[in-house]
Amino acid sequence: MLKIAVAKGRIAEKVSELLLDTREYRNIINLKSRKLVFTDKDMEVEFFLVKPSDVPVYVGSGAADVGIVGKDVLMETQNQVYEILDLKTCGCRMVLAGPAEKNQVRPIVRKIATKYPKIAAEYFNRKSESVEIIKLDGSIELAPIVGLSDAIVDIVESGRTLKENGLIVYEDICDITARMVVNKVSYKLKNKSINNFVTAVSTTIEGGEALAQNSVMGG
Ligand code: PRP
Repeated sequence: MLKIAVAKGRIAEKVSELLLDTREYRNIINLKSRKLVFTDKDMEVEFFLVKPSDVPVYVGSGAADVGIVGKDVLMETQNQVYEILDLKTCGCRMVLAGPAEKNQVRPIVRKIATKYPKIAAEYFNRKSESVEIIKLDGSIELAPIVGLSDAIVDIVESGRTLKENGLIVYEDICDITARMVVNKVSYKLKNKSINNFVTAVSTTIEGGEALAQNSVMGG
């Protein structure tokens, strides 16, 4: 049985759409249900719906063989997983953002609020800037508004949340898309079924743009 952990929310919705275009994996996931596990005994495949930040935990531990999750989560994880495919979907940007300044120039920032402390620390280390990083779990845009931080490191998709809260992008950090990752042992032991799944998914991706990759993510 090939076990696949999919990040709940936007990524699960997109994956469920992509799977509709495959012959083998269509109609297994039903997002209208409250079920967390969807099994197809004939295809010997089982999908789990998990919180995005938990996908690397399931895959890293081997409880799932494959995971589908955003690059933002992978960049933040300590779990060792093997990134195998860029799904080129669910795109957004990781940015440094803060209150709109009159001249639009990035002010000196000392306190940074973020859900992504590792990404933020690496970014400021690269720039040799010393900052205090404040880890929050959500509504990050609130932090500079109420004076908890000078700026934020967060993902921006449409830009509406920033705009409607009077914030602007100071600097782009990186682009984010959904990625497929595998457990390193599973990749050896279940190579055939993993490759069948990768092939089925990658051929459905618009313009065949998905890129097979080979990089080890995490600590
Ligand atoms: C994410 C992100 C931004 C927002 C960006 O938050 O942290 O707040 O989406 O989207 P936009 O550019 O399209 O407005 P999420 O919805 O995950 O909620 P959260 O505040 O709980 O992190």
